Amino acid sequence: MAKFKIFRVLDQDIPEKYRERYFALIQQFDEEKYGHIPPSLEYYRIMYALPKEDGKEFKITLLVNEDDFVIGFGMQGWNTKYDQLQSGWMDLYVTPSYRRRGLGNRILKDLVQRFPEEVTTLRAYPREYTPGYFFFQQFKAKPNSESFLVEADLREFNLEDIRKLANEHKENANLNGYIIIFTKNKEFGDNFPLDEFVSLTEEIANAIPRGEISFEKRTHSTERYLMRIERHMKAGYDVISFIATDIKTNQPVGFTTVVINKYYPWQAQQKHTGVTPEHRGMKLGLTLKYQTLLYLLENTEVRFWITNSNKINEHMTRINEILKHKVTGTECGFEFKKDELSKALERI
Ligand SMILES: CC(C)(COP(=O)(O)OP(=O)(O)OC[C@H]1O[C@@H](n2cnc3c(N)ncnc32)[C@H](O)[C@@H]1OP(=O)(O)O)[C@@H](O)C(=O)NCCC(=O)NCCS
Repeated sequence: MAKFKIFRVLDQDIPEKYRERYFALIQQFDEEKYGHIPPSLEYYRIMYALPKEDGKEFKITLLVNEDDFVIGFGMQGWNTKYDQLQSGWMDLYVTPSYRRRGLGNRILKDLVQRFPEEVTTLRAYPREYTPGYFFFQQFKAKPNSESFLVEADLREFNLEDIRKLANEHKENANLNGYIIIFTKNKEFGDNFPLDEFVSLTEEIANAIPRGEISFEKRTHSTERYLMRIERHMKAGYDVISFIATDIKTNQPVGFTTVVINKYYPWQAQQKHTGVTPEHRGMKLGLTLKYQTLLYLLENTEVRFWITNSNKINEHMTRINEILKHKVTGTECGFEFKKDELSKALERI
C-alpha cells in the first residue's frame, strides 16, 4: 500500500499538474454511474472554477500512484447555513484497474474523518448492483431509499402528435381555471409572482417522497433561488420551468423544471415537478410535462430526457410511463451514522 499517496486538497487549489486528470476521472465516474455520454471536459473545468454555493462546503481528496498520477478521488459536501446541517454526502471513485486493493476503503476513511463534528449522518448514492453498491454493502445490507433512474428517447415522439396533445392539455387546464406560464432562467415576464413561486418550490421539495432517508425541512428564499439560477447559468445551464397559476388568485399551484447544459446539449435533466394537494387530480402534472416535452422537441437538440423518481412515488411513475420514460436502473441511497461507519472502518 505504501506506494500510493492520498492527499487532501480544497476545491479551488488542486495543483495544476493533477487537474486535467482529475476532470477526466470525474467524467469517467459520471459515465460509469449513469451510462450516458458524459459532459465534455470543459464542463468539469467550469464547475471547478465556480465559487461554492452560499451555505455549502465541498472538499476533494485525490489518490495518486507511485508515478504521481491521479487514480482516484473522494468528494464530500455538507451544508453550513441552511437545510440538514447534520448530514453530509460523499462520492468516491477508483479507476477500474486499481480496484479491489483496499483503496476505496482508504479514501472512505479519509472522507469520514474529515467531516466536521456537527455532521453526524453520511450518505452515498451508488447505482444498484454496481461496484459502488457492493462496496457500500460491506457496511449495510440494504439501502435506505431507492429511486428509479428513467429516461425517454425523444426520437420516439412525433412532433405533430405532441404539439396537439400539449395544446389540448393546456386548453383543458385553461377551462379548469389555470394558465400555464413559461420561464427561462431569470426571464419571468411581467407580473410574475416570484415570491409565491419560490414558496411553492419549497412546499413541493418538502413533500417529495424520500423513503427511509432521514429528512429535515428545506428552506427556499427568493434570494437563494435567484443565486442558484445565476450559478446554473454560469455553469452553462438553461433553467426552464412551466408553472400553472390559478387564474382567480394569480397563485402558482404547480410547476415543473428542466435543465439543459450547453456542454452536453443532448441531455435534459428533469428536476422537481409538483402540484399542491388542493389542485391535484386535474392533470396539471401531466399538462406541465407535455409543455416541457414540446419545448424540448421544438427548441433544443436534446435526445435523452432523464430523471429519477423514488420507487414509492406512484403518481410521478405513472406520468413518466405515459411520457415513454423507461427505467434504466436504480439509484440507492445508503445512510450511515458517522460514528458507526468510522468504527466499522477501524476494524478493516
Ligand atoms: C466504489 C469503489 C470506489 C470501490 O473502490 P475499491 O478500491 O475497489 O474498493 P476496496 O478495494 O477498498 O473494496 C473494499 C471492499 O468493498 C467490497 N467491494 C468493493 N467492490 C466490490 C465489488 N465489485 N463486488 C463485491 N464487493 C466489492 C468488498 O467487500 C471489498 O473488500 P475485498 O476486496 O477484500 O472483498 C470503486 O468500485 C468505484 O470507483 N466504483 C465506481 C464509482 C462508484 O460507484 N462510487 C460509489 C458511488 S458514491
